[in-house]
Amino acid sequence: NSSPITARAHTNIALIKYWGKKDMDLIIPQNSSLSLTLDHFYTDTTVKFDKTLPRDVFTLNGHLVENPKVNHFMDLVRKLAGIQIFAKIDSINHVPSAAGLASSASAFAALAAAASKAAGLDLSRKDLSRLARRGSGSASRSIYGGFVEWCQGTDDQTSYAVPVEEKLDWPIGMLVGIVNSGQKKISSRVGMQTVVETSPYYQGWIQSTTADLKSIKKAIQERDFQKVGEITESNALKMHALNLSAQPHFNYFEPMSLAIMQEVERIREEEHIPCYYTLDAGPNVKILCLQADASAIQQILASKFGQITFEFAKPGEGVRFIEA
Ligand code: DP6
Repeated sequence: NSSPITARAHTNIALIKYWGKKDMDLIIPQNSSLSLTLDHFYTDTTVKFDKTLPRDVFTLNGHLVENPKVNHFMDLVRKLAGIQIFAKIDSINHVPSAAGLASSASAFAALAAAASKAAGLDLSRKDLSRLARRGSGSASRSIYGGFVEWCQGTDDQTSYAVPVEEKLDWPIGMLVGIVNSGQKKISSRVGMQTVVETSPYYQGWIQSTTADLKSIKKAIQERDFQKVGEITESNALKMHALNLSAQPHFNYFEPMSLAIMQEVERIREEEHIPCYYTLDAGPNVKILCLQADASAIQQILASKFGQITFEFAKPGEGVRFIEA
């Protein structure tokens, strides 16, 4: 039996989106992506291998859950470590609200670190990123803090994330607006696959997102906030345009998401506060802004959308082991 190992990983929000796979089992993406790791939302996961267990036992926030993705992932870890013992896995998601921010990125990054160490492996961060990728593509990026690039690569060996700037001396952050959705939305896994197979715009997306990645890395280096924001917003809208062009078409926008997007554009144009939005596979709106402007933007948004909570997150750190 192993002693329990606990790892903490933070969620990340892509500024340049990953939206499509070349290999669905290995999770090799169609394009490279770039994200910002956030300090505010994270997952703590404890893993203990136990010879007496007849199968893996997984709890999330104290509740027993059946999750085939977790079982499949644990099989990968066992294969890597050459062991056949099942494990007790306890995860706590630290998110401000139950609404749609439970993140597979922080979840599989924390699980990769805790499970591999508990299994007796001592993986480099590169190999941790490769392993986390097998659980969920975006998890490959949560191994690192700050700005992170997931280099698409061509196979299991070459597809992993690298830090672009881990310890950011740039006072930026994200306001996350939690838009509650009544509807059950299409998962990112199914959504992106539908797009790859049916969107007539997919080749255009690959070309333009490759150019966006190059430009945003330059803008980050030059500390050109406006440029970083403009590329972020435009890249997100292109990803969502793919969804509108798929067959069957789908989208993640709620009326409230659209209202917030419009308000962000208005704040930028009329109040002259630089702020830019991005959305993922759900209705929540994330707003990239300077730390100094966060409370002013938060106040304006609160006055217009009283029912929505906006949480501010600063850049966060990569995965690490903690005392349980
Ligand atoms: C829109 O990483 O959740 O958030 O690899 O199938 O688990 P799987 O998908 P996932 O997709 C994330 C999609 C996104 C964009 C991004 O984070 O890059």
